[in-house]
Amino acid sequence: MGYAVAVDGPAGAGKSTIAKLVAKNMDLTYIDTGAMYRGIGIFIRDAGVDPDDEEAVSKAVSGITMDIRYQDGVQHVFVDGRDVTERLREEETGRLASRVSRYPAVRSRLVALQRQMAESGNVIMDGRDIGTVVLPGAQLKIYLTASVQTRARRRWKELLEKGEPADIAEIQADIEKRDNQDMHREVSPLKKADDAVVLDTSDMTIEQVVNRIEGLARIRRKNPKVVLAQTAGFCFGVQRAVKTVYDETKGSGPLYTYGEIIHNESVVDDLQKHGVTVLDTPDDVRKAEKGTVVIRSHGVSKDVYDDLQNAGFRIVDATCPFVLKIHQIAREVTSGDGELVIVGDRTHPEVEGICGWCRKPATVIDTKEEADSLIFPENTDVTIVSQTTFNLQKFEEIVEIIRAKGYNTNVCNTICSATEERQTEARRIAATVDAMIVIGGKKSSNTRKLYEICKRECPETYLIQTFADLNLISLAKADSIGITAGASTPNTIIEEVLHNV
Ligand code: F3S
Repeated sequence: MGYAVAVDGPAGAGKSTIAKLVAKNMDLTYIDTGAMYRGIGIFIRDAGVDPDDEEAVSKAVSGITMDIRYQDGVQHVFVDGRDVTERLREEETGRLASRVSRYPAVRSRLVALQRQMAESGNVIMDGRDIGTVVLPGAQLKIYLTASVQTRARRRWKELLEKGEPADIAEIQADIEKRDNQDMHREVSPLKKADDAVVLDTSDMTIEQVVNRIEGLARIRRKNPKVVLAQTAGFCFGVQRAVKTVYDETKGSGPLYTYGEIIHNESVVDDLQKHGVTVLDTPDDVRKAEKGTVVIRSHGVSKDVYDDLQNAGFRIVDATCPFVLKIHQIAREVTSGDGELVIVGDRTHPEVEGICGWCRKPATVIDTKEEADSLIFPENTDVTIVSQTTFNLQKFEEIVEIIRAKGYNTNVCNTICSATEERQTEARRIAATVDAMIVIGGKKSSNTRKLYEICKRECPETYLIQTFADLNLISLAKADSIGITAGASTPNTIIEEVLHNV
């Protein structure tokens, strides 16, 4: 088989429009399977075969040949060597085509012809079961769909533009009926291949859909080497926190998380569907009906903890043990004469939480410049800790600046090993590939850091939340692609990207 793209989907999803445009952009032959059925209609008519006589029709089509060729950019259909293009749109042709298309012999002859075409060239073919029956070995399978409402609206607009009267409710009812028939018909029912990429075009323009399919088709044709980081995805602390909330949803009474459990919209949305409410502020706590609050892996300050307890909430603490260790250091150091320096983002909830366990104010720094301007009295005992997700290299540079000031410095490298391993692996992969994909939530600090690290090694680094954000046309230029993901990225999202790329 040459290179083949199979496009299946319900009627009105725009399959043929899209397939023709992709074919043009990629120099593929668009196989119009509908035109082939019409070609059979013409053949039956010219041969004088009774379309209701299944045996006669089956016998007549058994040796038929068919070819689709392009002349000056226009598709021509040849049946037994005769160009029948001009007659394809005739009403009688359409009627005959639908009468004979239900015969298994017609179907199997056409499938054989379609496979022959795919064997002798690079094709894109659309229909109802191309990916499952006609071309199960196609390099790319797309299941193109759109909501019934969207398809009805598109059809309604089309008719209006042609000046034909149209009732949108009637069109929608027709589409629903047709969908049901297509899925349950005996001959070639509409089926999605297990390995098809589903593309819901309801909120997409034609150009966006073409871009998406073309990008995927180019990537599959190129067949780049893909390296998935072993450390991509949920870390131990996040896994534990997310599991804790899902376990708690099995209990009764109101359930809350203090802040979003992880920086990932799809997980937060799913938890919301399970009845979990996010409390963001002390005011939210005051107004909320009493119930259970799960503390996320970032942890919270002592004040928040006490407020929740005093207000009568049941607390389930899913603070990561690595963060709890920093809380302990913070408490101990700030109980004595020494100074605590926290290297991290002062606006990040983890750092806010750490500060909230200090018995006197700590100093938070994030940059080498801030480290430069740090001044304590001579001989001060300075303990340095880090936000768990801080960039190791930057942390070491900051530590060196502080050490050089001559204080009694005690360095506690509290960067989580999961973060360190993830960053090291991402850097190593990014240095060897043409393009790197970093998957994670917009608000996830460890994802942003991963992106920075990869971008330094590989200029073609893409930061995405889900597969839908990926610029596939650009990515298609790469011969090798690396994939990593932040600690709050669910496996399902990573797998979707991996599978599609
Ligand atoms: Fe904990 Fe490290 Fe994850 S600190 S939450 S295991 S990144």
